[in-house]
Amino acid sequence: MIKIDISMPKKYEIIIEKGAFNNIVKEIKEVYKGFRLAVITDENLYGLYGEQLRFSLLKESYDLKVIVIKPGESSKSFETLINIYSQLSGFLRRNDLIAAFGGGVVGDLAGFAASTYMRGVKLIQIPTTLLSQIDSSVGGKTAINLPEAKNLVGSFYHPERVIIDPLLLKSLPDKYIIDGLGEAIKYACIKDENLFNELMASKYNINENIEELIYACLNIKKEIVEKDEKDYGLRMLLNFGHTIGHAIEQYFNYAVSHGEAVCIGMYHITKNSQRVGFTKTNTVERLTALLENYNIKYNLPLSTAEIIKFIHSDKKNNSDFINLVLLKEIGNAYIQKVPLDNLYNFINVEQERL
Ligand SMILES: NC(=O)c1ccc[n+]([C@@H]2O[C@H](COP(=O)([O-])OP(=O)(O)OC[C@H]3O[C@@H](n4cnc5c(N)ncnc54)[C@H](O)[C@@H]3O)[C@@H](O)[C@H]2O)c1
Repeated sequence: MIKIDISMPKKYEIIIEKGAFNNIVKEIKEVYKGFRLAVITDENLYGLYGEQLRFSLLKESYDLKVIVIKPGESSKSFETLINIYSQLSGFLRRNDLIAAFGGGVVGDLAGFAASTYMRGVKLIQIPTTLLSQIDSSVGGKTAINLPEAKNLVGSFYHPERVIIDPLLLKSLPDKYIIDGLGEAIKYACIKDENLFNELMASKYNINENIEELIYACLNIKKEIVEKDEKDYGLRMLLNFGHTIGHAIEQYFNYAVSHGEAVCIGMYHITKNSQRVGFTKTNTVERLTALLENYNIKYNLPLSTAEIIKFIHSDKKNNSDFINLVLLKEIGNAYIQKVPLDNLYNFINVEQERL
């Protein structure tokens, strides 16, 4: 078992252990002494693990409600949220617990429900995708989407514990493993050239030592979010590739996944920042070599004008500038303030590869 202590200032532990899901009751009991709990999950996970989860919790006489949502980004919506509140009402009380069992969609949605229902009930995150195990379950960001933009309504709300079982990834379709690897590449690009080189050398294997990769990524996330809980500075580095990435998700109406979109975003922003001289020569070539190493697509046909339109609607303030995360070189990211009328230079998504 690997443990990571998070202090934001709320303190909680992340547990990384193959087979932790089989001991889920023990893990829950260490941080929650109550007997009533609501599990929020999606249909795919419920089909795969619902019976085992129910059996483990009911055996311990928990008063249990399992709320099952439709899989996919479209569930991060007000409609689903209201449905969750209705199912919670009359069942869950102030001191009770919500367990989020799923990927980033379930984690963000259940986290927001936990932070708002009765002004906040306890929360445990049990992430089941690689992306949620290395990123979204830690750091306290919760959200739902509005038709206008992604993650426009949300909160910062920390769990009592994050329980990560890498064995759950065995049932995750390859497409989503690739998504998570895209986020791992993001961490390597912004903070850790060693991790970049290890990924290039294919050091990590999903069947063998994936917990080492999860640990490496979460340590970077810990280092960043502990210094900037509310995302006013350093934490923005975690958005490398996301300005273009979020716009791409909307452009394709979420038919392109978050991880794929972030990879395409990392490629274009680096290609452009290298062209204008803000990024060391050969950086985008190294990035594309690593993406190709994992068969990650990074160059879909796109319209720059359309992407810029989505970026404007996604912008969460009205200033004439936008903060872009750029690489000085691999392992070293920084925030560059760019005037909106110069955005095209950094967002051009139509050029061929360098
Ligand atoms: N809060 C944050 O800090 C943060 C950070 C990054 C991303 N996000 C959010 O995360 C979301 C994307 O999350 P995601 O990539 O985990 O996608 P997801 O939650 O949509 O899961 C992807 C698919 O995999 C299925 N699945 C999940 N675990 C499985 C398993 N173990 N076995 C089989 N199938 C499984 C799900 O049912 C779903 O169909 C986006 O909404 C994004 O905005 C949040």
